[in-house]
Amino acid sequence: MGSFAIETRSLSKTFVTKRGFWRRKTKSTLAVEDISFNVNQGELFGILGPNGAGKTTTVKMLSTLLLPTSGSISILGLDILKNTLEIRKRIGFTFGGARGLYGRLSARDNLRYFAELYGLAPEITRKRIVELLEMVGLTGREEDRVETFSSGMQQRLHLARALLHNPELIFLDEPTVGIDPVGARELRAAIKTLIARGKTILLTTHYMAEAEELCDRIAIVNKGNIVAMDTPSSLKVRIGRETVIEVDVDQQNLESLKIQLVKLDHLSKVEYSAEKLINRISIHTSEPENILRLLGPFLQAKSIQGLEVRNQTMEDVYVAIIQGEKK
Ligand SMILES: Nc1ncnc2c1ncn2[C@@H]1O[C@H](COP(=O)(O)OP(=O)(O)O)[C@@H](O)[C@H]1O
Ligand SMILES: [Mg+2]
Repeated sequence: MGSFAIETRSLSKTFVTKRGFWRRKTKSTLAVEDISFNVNQGELFGILGPNGAGKTTTVKMLSTLLLPTSGSISILGLDILKNTLEIRKRIGFTFGGARGLYGRLSARDNLRYFAELYGLAPEITRKRIVELLEMVGLTGREEDRVETFSSGMQQRLHLARALLHNPELIFLDEPTVGIDPVGARELRAAIKTLIARGKTILLTTHYMAEAEELCDRIAIVNKGNIVAMDTPSSLKVRIGRETVIEVDVDQQNLESLKIQLVKLDHLSKVEYSAEKLINRISIHTSEPENILRLLGPFLQAKSIQGLEVRNQTMEDVYVAIIQGEKK
């Protein structure tokens, strides 16, 4: 076995569900279809994909909570089927929107309760709880009941709970889902702290910006398959260093602008969308100067309502890759 924190080969999961009462029809869903990847020690690896892509199913298999239909998984050099208990001692996990905290208990008592459940020694527990509450930014609130916490604070307490037994490898399934922006930022800061302390983290998200900010490498998944896997910057390069120009124009000027843009067809990829009375034109181009020159007269005549020029973001890459898949 190599020194990877996670190694998977041809991992698949099919769910078979029964429907109906008299005629028990069965339906099978291929949630994960033949995925293979490695995660290095100390890496922050992201699985990015839309709802239903198979992210949670993958994380559940990797964290020993769900058996694969086929394929192999090795966690910290250990086989998932042969060394399940040993693996569980060395990993931690949280699932997005997870329940399981006791609202009537304080943050500290929740952690104490779970520490006892894990069989941790009380003298270790006391010190670790203080450290963990500090790390997730809940110092000062340790005696407050968890039911008074915001969703972001609860999510951070979940993270602290997952870290009680000091795991080497941590799985975070959509850690920032349903949290306000400030709470999400604080949670991302806690994740960065963990990486700085040498932990390995696999996180799933459907937020492109989050994956780009945090991850060393990203696997983009769609319909149970990995459709791209690389560093955020290489993923961006893969579909070209393009500039995105977004133009808002009213119905009146749309046609004449379209006619102009068609002339520069070879330089750009143009998409049209409309919301209420404003039409948005998104132009992806490697020669923004030429497009902007063409837009000049429209700007002078004030027939453009909005103009934004930006570099390609992770979101553009994501959309391009997922759309490419569908074709
Ligand atoms: N326990 C289950 N039984 C049947 N189908 C399931 C079950 N869990 C997930 N699925 C299906 O598997 C697919 C992938 O789901 P999931 O892994 O939860 O995706 P994601 O986390 O990326 O949103 C979906 O089509 C989902 O409906
Ligand atoms: Mg999920």
